[in-house]
Amino acid sequence: MVASLGSLVAAFWATLHLRTLLLGAVVFLFLVAFLKTQRPKTYPPGPWRLPFVGNMFQVDFENSHLQIQKLTEKYGNILSLDFGTLNSVLITGMPLIKEIFIHSEQSFINRPITATRERVFGKNGLVMSNGQIWKEQRRFTLTTFRNFGLGKKSLEQRIQEEAQHLVEDIENEKGQPFNPQFKINNAVSNIICSIVFGERFEYQDGHFQKMLKLLDELVYLEASIMGMLYNTFPSVMKFIPGQHQKIFSNWDKLKSFISYEIEKHKRDRNPDDPRDFIDAYLNEMAKHPDKNATSFHEENLICSTLDLFLAGTETTSTTLRWGLLFMALNPEIQEKAQAEIDRVIGREKQPNLADRESLPYTYAVIHEVQRMGNIIPFNVPREVASDTTLSGYHLPKGTMILANLTALHNDPKEWATPDTFNPEHFLENGQFKKKECFLPFGMGKRVCLGEQLARSELFIFFTFFLQNFTFKPPKNEKLSLKVRPGLTLSPVSHRICAIPRA
Ligand code: HEM
Ligand SMILES: *[C@@H]1O[C@H](CO)[C@@H](O)[C@H](O)[C@H]1NC(C)=O
Ligand SMILES: *[C@@H]1O[C@H](CO)[C@@H](O)[C@H](O)[C@H]1NC(C)=O
Ligand SMILES: *[C@@H]1O[C@H](CO)[C@@H](O)[C@H](O)[C@H]1NC(C)=O
Repeated sequence: MVASLGSLVAAFWATLHLRTLLLGAVVFLFLVAFLKTQRPKTYPPGPWRLPFVGNMFQVDFENSHLQIQKLTEKYGNILSLDFGTLNSVLITGMPLIKEIFIHSEQSFINRPITATRERVFGKNGLVMSNGQIWKEQRRFTLTTFRNFGLGKKSLEQRIQEEAQHLVEDIENEKGQPFNPQFKINNAVSNIICSIVFGERFEYQDGHFQKMLKLLDELVYLEASIMGMLYNTFPSVMKFIPGQHQKIFSNWDKLKSFISYEIEKHKRDRNPDDPRDFIDAYLNEMAKHPDKNATSFHEENLICSTLDLFLAGTETTSTTLRWGLLFMALNPEIQEKAQAEIDRVIGREKQPNLADRESLPYTYAVIHEVQRMGNIIPFNVPREVASDTTLSGYHLPKGTMILANLTALHNDPKEWATPDTFNPEHFLENGQFKKKECFLPFGMGKRVCLGEQLARSELFIFFTFFLQNFTFKPPKNEKLSLKVRPGLTLSPVSHRICAIPRA
């Protein structure tokens, strides 16, 4: 009796003890997290944050770029926001953006590496790499792009040929409603593929279409709530099933696709006559046999190629899709651009880059598509490279820096009708007018590496589209400007009619 009572007491104490311990641990962790969330006075102001998750659940992810709206009004142009363990600061307005991207750019030259990125790319690649690796990869890529015809005739011709293929393919739709997403995706991707792999892929190529689908899924999965939770709690989320697991399987499949292309190149290349980016890279690797002393090794070849494939496909293709939507929704503007194209280059000759100067209206329309489409609303994140101050605020090394490009592209002081599609924003007395407050490609030393390429593609594809078709909403279907959130803001899936111009 006594013995069993004794064991009961012992058991009671044991559980109590365990509970207290657990409770104590939880309280302690919250306290630590809470103290951690208390910022020094010189840190930029921002909304209160929860321990562990910060402002994650205060931001509506479906509409994140719009939802946190009132914060800038309340806290000013330098505003802190935390997503779990990621501390970020949001910058608004041209003076501060210039300060960060131009005047003090050395302090803001880095990119944050998320847990997802780390797991897939390590420290490799182009878009999110830092330091020596980034410098070497970026310099090499720029030189190689130049050698393979960027800014030269050959690339322009490649874009023209691809536009011809695409127009023929769209013509097969015979003016009936169709979803333009994967055709445009494929055509645009073929340009970067021809530079990187030395080949283009037919729109009927099932395997390549599958790769494009994987890429498209990544664009929204990485920005989904599960994706963000993984980045905050990777060691836990790693073991939990869910959509975020697909992120890694998709990346793996894309990596194998690229490895396969690399193996093919190794087999049939001629070192004296490099055909494309991969050949040039394999030559560069041969110059640096000590793998420890160089960033030019096979893993980096895969990662940089993957970066080019992603960055070179999704952005330009999404912008073109916005372009067709804005045309279908603004028939008078479409007509005016078509009239200009007919008048200046006619219906026979295919547009080329030199025509930009003689097509100011059409050129302005394309810029307006980028302003309104605003596909990368917060720029690609930067990271503070070493402790620094900005406008009197202290920004510790490692802080993530976002720039509100939406605010810049919608600033009522800069744009006559910020909420309306209006090519006049980029015109003055009928001539094209550059705008300082227009930064869809970012700015400074980490400016978009593909800006020139993207601008060439946008112009040639878009003018060729308008030369051949009039875009209209399908009968009895309403086109919407709703966005699908993701790494880039794209139109929601829709159908459109491309009526051939007789
Ligand atoms: C309309 C199309 C495009 C838009 C709106 C766009 C936008 C951007 C932006 C905003 C950045 C970050 C710049 C910064 O941090 O200041 C960026 C970086 C980058 N973009 Fe693009 N981009 C486009 C097309 C392309 C294309 C076609 C390529 C293919 C080569 C490309 C490759 C890259 C790369 C490699 C980076 C990373 C550069 C670095 O970190 O050094 N982009 N892009
Ligand atoms: C960015 O600017 C836009 C336009 O001014 C605004 O609607 C949006 O809320 C801002 N985003 C944040 C996070 O402050
Ligand atoms: C390269 O680095 C690895 C790991 O740090 C090391 O084991 C290896 O011996 C190094 N190789 C050379 C050639 O220095
Ligand atoms: C599109 O327009 C061009 C004029 O540049 C013409 O040569 C071509 O045949 C048209 N393409 C189709 C498929 O109608």
